[in-house]
Amino acid sequence: MSHTEMNTAQDLVTYLTDQHQQVKDVMPKVLDLAGDERQEAFTRVRRMLAVHEALEQSTVHLLATTEVSPEEAAARVQEETAAESAISDLESDGAMSADFEDKYRALCSDVVNHAAHEEEEEFGQLTGDLTDQAKAKVALAEKLQDGTGLMGASFKDMFASAHEQLRQLE
Ligand SMILES: [Fe+2]
Ligand SMILES: [Fe+2]
Repeated sequence: MSHTEMNTAQDLVTYLTDQHQQVKDVMPKVLDLAGDERQEAFTRVRRMLAVHEALEQSTVHLLATTEVSPEEAAARVQEETAAESAISDLESDGAMSADFEDKYRALCSDVVNHAAHEEEEEFGQLTGDLTDQAKAKVALAEKLQDGTGLMGASFKDMFASAHEQLRQLE
């Protein structure tokens, strides 16, 4: 969905749920590859997750603090913080290290569970229209997903770059 069709909280939920499906499709394929190809695929996954999670923290989890509960919203952010640390660990091991495959499979499973928690505990309860600011954030996130303007090579830096750029729209 293009941001031009993005008007309600449920439009944003559809957009994010489509991204969950893309992540589920793309993430396991990293392990089918080796060498530079695996590294490049891992980078695409890291970029996709960095922008996706930063957009969620800047939009749906904020909405969820009032429309669902502060505890649920905080639990989702905590899962995202845990994924950030798991990805940083994988980056320091390297995509062709002996431990990579087991740790990466664990990350895939955690990411799938996290997405299910969002869809089941949070997304269905968000209502109302998006503000112009939220729409602008989605438009920015779409550009960042293409790699345009996203700074940093590590997940931590890409996540921070996405966060900072989204924050500047507030
Ligand atoms: Fe998330
Ligand atoms: Fe998500």
